[in-house]
Amino acid sequence: MNFKEHLKRYLSESEINNLISSLTNERTHFLILNTNKMNKEQFKKEFPNIKEFALIDNAFSYDDNEYHFGKNYYFDNGVYYIMDSASMLVSNSLDYIDGENVLDMCAAPGGKSIIACLKNRNINLLSNDLSYQRALILSSNIEKMGFGNVTITSTDLSRHIGQFNKTFDHIILDAPCSGSAMFRKLEEMEKDWTYEKVLKCQNTQRILIENAYLMLKEGGSMVYSTCSFSYEEDEEIILEFLKNHDDVHIVKLEDNPQFFHSKELPEAIHLFPSLFNGEGQFFCVLKKDGISLKEEKYKGFTRDFEKIKDSYDLNFASDELINNTNLYCFNNRFNLKGISTLRNGLFVGEINKNIFKPSFHLAHYLSSNNSIILNDEERKMYLHGDTFNKLINKPNGFYVVSYNNINLGFVKNINNTLKNFYPKGLRH
Ligand SMILES: C[S@@+](CC[C@H](N)C(=O)[O-])C[C@H]1O[C@@H](n2cnc3c(N)ncnc32)[C@H](O)[C@@H]1O
Repeated sequence: MNFKEHLKRYLSESEINNLISSLTNERTHFLILNTNKMNKEQFKKEFPNIKEFALIDNAFSYDDNEYHFGKNYYFDNGVYYIMDSASMLVSNSLDYIDGENVLDMCAAPGGKSIIACLKNRNINLLSNDLSYQRALILSSNIEKMGFGNVTITSTDLSRHIGQFNKTFDHIILDAPCSGSAMFRKLEEMEKDWTYEKVLKCQNTQRILIENAYLMLKEGGSMVYSTCSFSYEEDEEIILEFLKNHDDVHIVKLEDNPQFFHSKELPEAIHLFPSLFNGEGQFFCVLKKDGISLKEEKYKGFTRDFEKIKDSYDLNFASDELINNTNLYCFNNRFNLKGISTLRNGLFVGEINKNIFKPSFHLAHYLSSNNSIILNDEERKMYLHGDTFNKLINKPNGFYVVSYNNINLGFVKNINNTLKNFYPKGLRH
C-alpha cells in the first residue's frame, strides 16, 4: 500500500490532497522562551519581528532568514528552546500541579519535558529514552534550561514496570512512529516510508501504551502522541486501548478551528499543516478513573464552589490556586515577577483543609438578583456577625444575603440556620 492509499482509512480524497500538497509548503519556525532566564518584554525588544503563538504562553514564531536562533549564545545557554508549535501543544495539554510525579516515556531530545517544566518547575519529572545517545542530548537540554527537578534515564521501561506501578500522576507518551508528519522536515523520511514500517511501529506503540497504563495512578492522565498521519498508529491504537480498559476515558480538549478530528475518534486532535501553522501531529488525553491529586486537593471546595457557580450561572474562564489556598479567577497574565501584587483578578475564596470559604470579593462580584433578601432585623443580626435562623427553603450550602438589593456577604445555610461569613473587621 502506498502512503496516499493508506490515508483513505479516515480521510476523504480532497483532505488527502490538501494534506499532501501542504507538506511541501515553506514551514514556520517556532521557539519557546525560558522565562526563568529572560522575560518576554526583553525578548520582544531584542527580536522585534518575532510573533507570539497564541495557543502557548511565551511561544513565538520567527523567520529563520532574519533570526538565526540556533546559532546564538542564548540558544546554548537555554534562554529558549527551538521546537515546533504542534509539538508544544502535546505536553501543554496536561495540567501539572506542584509535587506531581510525571513521566515522559520517550523523551529525547526533550521538547515535551521542557514544556512540562516551563509550565510547572515543581513537578517530579522522570524523562526516559531508550536511546542512550539521544538521552545524552535530552540531558544536556535539561541542563542548559536550568531545571533541577528532572531525573533522566535511558532504559526499556517495560523491564521496570513493577518499580513504577501506578506511580505517575501524568504520563507523556510521545511514541516512536513512522514519522510521516515529519516529511517536509526530513525529505529522506518520505523515501523511507513503508506500510510495513507503520505496522511495526504500531506494535511498539501497543506495548508502550499498555506499559503507560500500568504506571499511571488511578485518577491520573496521559497524553498519547505521534508525528504520524497513519490511522493505524493514531486512532487504531487508542480505540483498541479504550476497548481493553473500561476504566480509561478520553478527555475532550479545548477545540480550535485549526484542529482536525476524525469521525472515529472526535476527541483526539490531528494537526495537519494544511489547516494548522506547524508540523503534523496527533494527540489525545486519556484519564484513568479515580481521583487525581488536583481533584483531591480541590475536593473540599469543588462541591460548594460548583453549587455557587450553578446557582449564579457563572462560567469562570480559568481557576487558579495561589499558594495552595487562595483561589483566583480571571487572572491577568501580566508579568508580575518581583512586583508586590495585592489582587490578580477575582479572589473567589480560600480552601483550608479541604473546606471552601467563599470570599467577600465574590459576594460583591455576584449580582444581587439571586441573593437571599434579609429584613431589617436580620440585616442587623448579619452585620453584627450573628448566626440566625431563617426559613429559606434552599438546599444546604453557601448563599449571598442582601438588603435593599445590596449584597452584604455570604452565609452558609445548614437546615435553615444561616452561619455568618461577614468579615470580622466589619462587624458592628
Ligand atoms: C518522537 S521521538 C520523541 C521526541 C520527544 N518526545 C521530544 O518532544 O523531544 C521518539 C523517541 O522514542 C524513543 N524510543 C523508541 N523506542 C522506545 C522505547 N521502547 N522506550 C523509550 N523510548 C523509546 C526514540 O529513541 C525517540 O527518541
